Formats: sequence, C-alpha cells, structure tokens
Amino acid sequence: MPQDMEKRANFGSKLGIILAAAGSAVGLGNVWRFPTEVGANGGAAFILIYVLCVLVLGVPLMVAEFIIGRHTHKNTADAYRQLAPGTAWVFQGYLGVFTSWFILCYYAVVAGWTLKYLMESALGEVAHISESTAYFEAFTSHPLIPLGYMAASMMMCHLVIVRGVQGGIERSSKLMMPMLLVIMFVLVATSVTMPGAESGVAFLLRPDFSKITADVVLSAMGQAFFSLSIAMGCLCTYASYFTDDAKLVKTAGSVALIDTLVAIMSGFVIFPAVFSVTGVAPDAGPGLVFITLPKVFQAAFTDVPWLGAAFAFMFYLLLFLAALTSMMSIHEPPTAFLIERFRISRHTATGIVTASVIAVGTLCSLSFGPLRDVRPLFGMTFFDFFDFVSAKIFLPVGGIIIALFTGWRLDRAIITAQLTNNGTQPVPEALLKAFVFFMKWVAPIAITLIFVYELR
Ligand code: PHE
Repeated sequence: MPQDMEKRANFGSKLGIILAAAGSAVGLGNVWRFPTEVGANGGAAFILIYVLCVLVLGVPLMVAEFIIGRHTHKNTADAYRQLAPGTAWVFQGYLGVFTSWFILCYYAVVAGWTLKYLMESALGEVAHISESTAYFEAFTSHPLIPLGYMAASMMMCHLVIVRGVQGGIERSSKLMMPMLLVIMFVLVATSVTMPGAESGVAFLLRPDFSKITADVVLSAMGQAFFSLSIAMGCLCTYASYFTDDAKLVKTAGSVALIDTLVAIMSGFVIFPAVFSVTGVAPDAGPGLVFITLPKVFQAAFTDVPWLGAAFAFMFYLLLFLAALTSMMSIHEPPTAFLIERFRISRHTATGIVTASVIAVGTLCSLSFGPLRDVRPLFGMTFFDFFDFVSAKIFLPVGGIIIALFTGWRLDRAIITAQLTNNGTQPVPEALLKAFVFFMKWVAPIAITLIFVYELR
C-alpha cells in the first residue's frame, strides 16, 4: 500500500537530514533578500544583530518544530490534531500546510526569474545586457514567457517531490547542497580578489553601531525568521521523517550555521563586486540580483569577458539551486497532508499541489504585466498580496502559536524525550527549563514585536 509506506517514510541518514533541512533554509532569502537587507540597513552592524537573532530566536523555534514533527511522525495538520485533539491549536496545523502552499505560489514566480537568468547566462547573454532595468522589466511584464519559466521551475520541483522522501528530497539535497556550497566558495574567492573590492569587504566587516535602530533590529529578526523557514510547517514536516537517532538541537544548530554562512557569503559575493564597479549603489533593493548584478558582471570583467559570463552563470546556478531546494520543502507539507488525510497516492497529491500552484502562481506572475493594475486585495497586486500576507502575517502568527503551543500546551515529557532521544542523550535539566521558559514568554513577546512593527 503506497499510503502506508509513505507514513513510514524516513530520511536515510543524518547527513541527509541536515542537507535537506539546510536546503529548505538556504534559499532566495539568503542570496537575494539578505544582501538587500544588509545594503538597506547599513552593513556589518545589521549582520551582527542578525546572527544574534538566529541564535537566540531562530534555533529554539526550529527545535520546537522538530519536536512536534518527530514526535508525531505526521504531516503538520495531523500532528497538531494528534497532540491537541479537538482544541483550537489544531488551527496551527492547517495554517502551516496552507502557508507553505501560499508561499510557493509567489516563490515559484521568482524561482522562474532565476531560471530565466540561468538560461540566459548559460548562453553567455547576461553579460551582454546593456539596459538591465529595461531588460528585467520587459521580461517580467511579458504575458507568457515568465509563466513558462515559473511552470518549468515548478515541474522540476514536482519531479523531485513525486519521487518521495528518500529517493526525491534526500537524494537531490545531497547532490544540490554540496554543489551550491562549492559554487559559493568559488564566487566568494573571485569576488573578494577583484580590484577595489576592499570597500565592499569593509562594508561587511566594520560595524557602525550608530546605524542600529529599533527598525534595524526588527528587520533582522524578520529576516532570520524567513531565512530559517520557521513557522511554515515545512520544518515540522521534514522532522516527521527524521530518524530516532537524529539529534534535534545539533541538527538545528548545523542548519542555522549553514544558513547563516551562506547568507554572509552571499554578501561577500555581491558587495565586493558591487563596490568594485563605481556608480552602483549597494542599497539597490530587490532589483539587486536581477538588475544591478548583470551590470556588475559586465563592468568588472571588461578585460576577460568569458570570466564575466562564467561568473554570471555560476551565480544564477547558485540562486536557482537555492530556490529549488526551498521550493521542495514548501511543496512537501501540502503534499504529505493530501496523501495522509485523503489517502491518495503521492503521484496524485503532488500533481494537485503542482497544478494548483501553477494556476494561482499565474496570477502572481501576471502582476508584473497584464494584471499590473488589477488590485482587488487591499490595493495590492496579487504578487504583493501573497508576499505581504505570508511573510508579514502568516509567518509571525504561526511563530507565536508554535512558541505558545510548545511552552504552554505540549507535554513536558514529550519535549524531554525528544531532546534527549528518549533519555539516551541526557540534557541538563536547566537547559530544558530554559527552553520551556523561552517558548512561554520570550519568543511570543519578541515575535509579537516584529509582527506589530511590520504592520505599522
Ligand atoms: N528559507 C527560505 C529562504 O531563505 C525561504 C523559505 C520560506 C523556504 C518558506 C521554505 C519556506 O529563501
């Protein structure tokens, strides 16, 4: 029975677990959003605060999701149903499944853009774009071409998910994540040795504490949250496939470390290159990777154009791999939910999720073209609405609920059993107490602050 086999699906190894979870965390948020935030918030000081947020807020929440997932070995919706049957907490399970699906609808659009730039750079074209802003706008506003790229990137994600946990997610993560890390090192090495790169490096390394305001702190928290894929149901779903000997705290620590390193390394790829080309601002906003960087690729390598083309190709390959592994992790929660709740095959479930995301993602993609002026929802385009509602509302609300659930409702014995792997790896009692206290008070208050701030 395929359904029953699905229920017992597991990751095959600890390395597979770490790479799959890191694949979820490392995404457009690291390579695209993080450098943008660093640029907008003054560089090194932001990075410092960000790292603190990851350690203090991110890792414990990730552990909480791991506990819920691995204890129940169920999809997110059924996990909460099992732990708190008949209560309002069950809502969080559905919210997790829904948020994953919802994010995928617009994440796939940007993944499609990265696929387009990857194809163009493979043909050596990106280094020849003379008007990168016009080029980007002409592409994204086209009524058909971006849809094709979005659908293509969704199909790649589909092909992985349909193969299941070990054969699909784990196998491809084990291939793609090491590739991504190697490319990252090559790009950092190239970027920091460019003439004039020092000012970019200094921007990243020399903190100017006068830049730290409440705004900066709260943006750093929000970024940490998004980047670690917290409150989305995907860490909880992945954890339901963890083996019993995986160490949850250690896994969360490794994932956070990889995620943070990749984010900072992205800064080291982008800023030295950007600073080495005069006339390009570091705070160019979301257009940074699609508009600013093509200019940088050309200008920095005028003497050796093939090097510029190679650099561009590797950069967009990195971006696409990062996007794809994250898409997989938000495709899986709704897929697992459909399989287990409605007892349908993985094939059918994956097909339903892929088709519905392409349909709704079409609206998001067309927001940059024919539907630019269609703003049925709070004066926002479809894309902006999906982005806003998921990142600014569902994520913080989900995070608050997960923390409160873990702190106030979840049985202490479950927390202890999960953190100590059923007593085989003892953890100091004080640490367990601190964890629960954190979930009861610190995390909900901190996240409420981000939430209120973002909505101002
Ligand atoms: N963490 C991913 C990133 O940094 C984004 C993501 C969000 C992934 C939600 C999964 C779920 O890009």
